[in-house]
This record gives sequence, C-alpha cells and structure tokens, in this order.
Amino acid sequence: MNSQDYIALEEQYGAHNYHPLDVVVHSAEGAWVTDVEGKKYLDCLAAYSAVNQGHCHPRIYDVFVEQAKNVTLTSRAFRNDRLPLLYKKLHEMTGYDMSLPMNSGAEAVETAIKTARRWAYDVKGIPADKAEIVVASGNFHGRTTTIVGFSDDPSSFKGFGPYCTEAFPMHEYGNIEDLKAKITPNTCAVMIEPIQGEGGIVIPPDGYLKAVAELCKEKGILFICDEIQAGLGRSGKLFAHYYEGVRPDIVIIGKALSGGYYPVSAILADKDILGVIKPGEHGSTFGGNPLAAAVAVRSLEVIEEENLVERSAELGAYFAERLRAIPSQHIVKVRARGLWIGLVLDTKARPYCEALKEEGLLCKETHENIIRFAPPLVITKEEIDWALERIEKVLTTI
Ligand SMILES: Cc1ncc(COP(=O)(O)O)c(C=O)c1O
Repeated sequence: MNSQDYIALEEQYGAHNYHPLDVVVHSAEGAWVTDVEGKKYLDCLAAYSAVNQGHCHPRIYDVFVEQAKNVTLTSRAFRNDRLPLLYKKLHEMTGYDMSLPMNSGAEAVETAIKTARRWAYDVKGIPADKAEIVVASGNFHGRTTTIVGFSDDPSSFKGFGPYCTEAFPMHEYGNIEDLKAKITPNTCAVMIEPIQGEGGIVIPPDGYLKAVAELCKEKGILFICDEIQAGLGRSGKLFAHYYEGVRPDIVIIGKALSGGYYPVSAILADKDILGVIKPGEHGSTFGGNPLAAAVAVRSLEVIEEENLVERSAELGAYFAERLRAIPSQHIVKVRARGLWIGLVLDTKARPYCEALKEEGLLCKETHENIIRFAPPLVITKEEIDWALERIEKVLTTI
C-alpha cells in the first residue's frame, strides 16, 4: 500500500475530526520522520510537544520494552512497583509534595478542576456547587465537554452544549485588572496557560504571571497553571512560569511526560491541596499504570540528562533570531520562547505548511495565520539551519 491508499482508507472509515497534512508516517527517529515511500521529513511539530525527547528515544524504548515484559496494567485496585518512583521523581524535580497521575492532558485538567472545587468546599468554605474558576480568553485546555464549555473558540465549543458557563468566568488573557474584576466571593481558582500554545504561542505581558500569583494569594484562591504544552522544557525553562519566578498552587503536565511512548499526565500540588481528594473520588483505569509510570520516569530523566531545557533555550533563541531576519513581507511577527515559535503571517498559513511539507519539513498552522515551529528538543543547530533554508525559500517565493 502507498500513501494514497492509506489516506483513502482513513478518509472513508475514520471520523474527520482532524485536518492533517497528507504525509503518512511509517517510522521516526530523533527529529525526523519517514513516510511509507521512504521520504524523510524534519518534524517541527513534535506531536504538539509530546516528543520533546525526540522520536523513539532509545533509552525510553528500553524501559518501555522491559516494563512491557513485566507488567503493564494493574489498575489502582492494587499497588505497583513503578508508580511510587514516578511520584518521587516528580517531587524531586518540581518540589511539589504530591502528584495525581492520569492519561490525557484533558483528564489532568479535569483533575485540577475537581481538586480546586473540592478544596473550595472543604477548605475555603464556598457554598455547595457554587465554586467558580476564572479562565482566560483564547484558552485551550482540551476537548472534554466541561473544558470546551469555557473556550471562546467556536470550533471548540459550538454545537456541543449545554455548558455551565457561570462556573467558569472568563477574563482577558494578560489583563490583570480584568482578572480582578472577575473574582467573586465564590471564586476558588484562576486557571491559565503560562503561554498559550494552541492560541498561537501567545506570550502574556511581562509581570502578568507574577500579578496572577500575587492576586491569588491575596484573595486566598488557587493559581492553576496548565503546563501541558509549555512545560518540560518546551519554553526554554522546565516550566514556563519559572520566567516570572512564581509557584502556582497546582501545575498540570502531560504530553512530554510520555516521551511520546505512552499517554501519561498528572497534576502536581502540595499536600494541603491535593490531600482533599479521598479514596474512591477520582481515578481512571489506566491512570498511574506501571508502564506509564516507568516511561514517565525515564522521559523525565532524559530531559535532565540530555540538558533538553538548556538546548531549548539556546537553540530556540537562535532559530527565532534567524526567522526574524527572513526578508518576507508576509511575516508580521515572530513570537518565541525556547524551541516554541509562532510565526505570525498576514495571510493564511496552511499553503506555507503544505509547501514546507513538499520541501521535507513538517509543521502545522494554528489558527488561520500562524505557523508553529516546535521541533523535538534534541534537534541540532545543523538541522535548524537546514530547516531555515527551506523556510526562507518558501516564505520568499510563495
Ligand atoms: C495547554 C493544553 N492543555 C491541555 C491540552 C489537552 O491535552 P490532550 O490533548 O492530551 O488531552 C493541550 C493539548 O494541546 C494543551 O495544549
């Protein structure tokens, strides 16, 4: 079968809930993927930042295979000998007392919402079923019905209601005065992304995260930071909120925690907050399974041992500077933190992504006019130069 055969099967039998580029990946290694015809492409999306460690990382593979021979799933009805090591690793790496593992990012966001609400009733004393969590305009926290109910992007929420919008008031992202105005006696938390990835690598104004943290402290409410895409090195720091030296009450992680091998997500918090969840109140059949835990520990080790955070900062700065120098009248702005770059165009981004695919470089538009470059953090400077040649060619000729 060739690429066209696979595409035809997918179009006929699969739900059309994505609009992928027509490249059919068969194998991958590091920053590169290979299609079924054997053509190689430099991956500048990294599975939406889930493969920060690079595709099929050999050290993650080793632990994946080894664990698959031992035991993969026990459910949390029994204990296993891998999950405690993930708890310990997350504590040592991030400083939070505890964590709660789930599978997808959206589930971890739901976990943060449930934890904040339970804290609201048990600790803060908000009247039953009245807790509010203030969210931000332009947010993206996943695709469950609760989460899309507080999105302002019609392609996320339209046609999937009804929603409970009064439980999630929205403030303008980056505007601290507007956030203050949205806080009521029933507010239990503020939940934001430190940088909005799906929003197009939107970096809030300097001082915003600090002001959010201070406001939450002053009002006695929780600061929830969704680091699912921004975290684990993508932004050039372990967490993007480190840029402002703040410590959120709950941090949500996912994507690169998996090394691209096995879905795993988690929330991190101290005991006085996460301790509110009691046996039987939350969980998932697969959450915290030994295979996921083993993979996550090794994925975190790879981030540390291969200095991926530092690489992201250094190579990201280089990539962004070179992009800014491209003489194209279509480039409006280059927004970048680490190897996480939004190239804002004055025109539709999709044709450029398609042209780049023909040149052997994979990237994806976000919104209509933004190209996101987010390669695996193991990418080399030479590979970035290779990419830049193609990007310059496409941006100056189309
Ligand atoms: C900030 C943020 N939160 C949550 C999610 C949802 O994660 P998942 O697709 O694993 O459910 C995403 C996915 O892109 C994200 O970027």
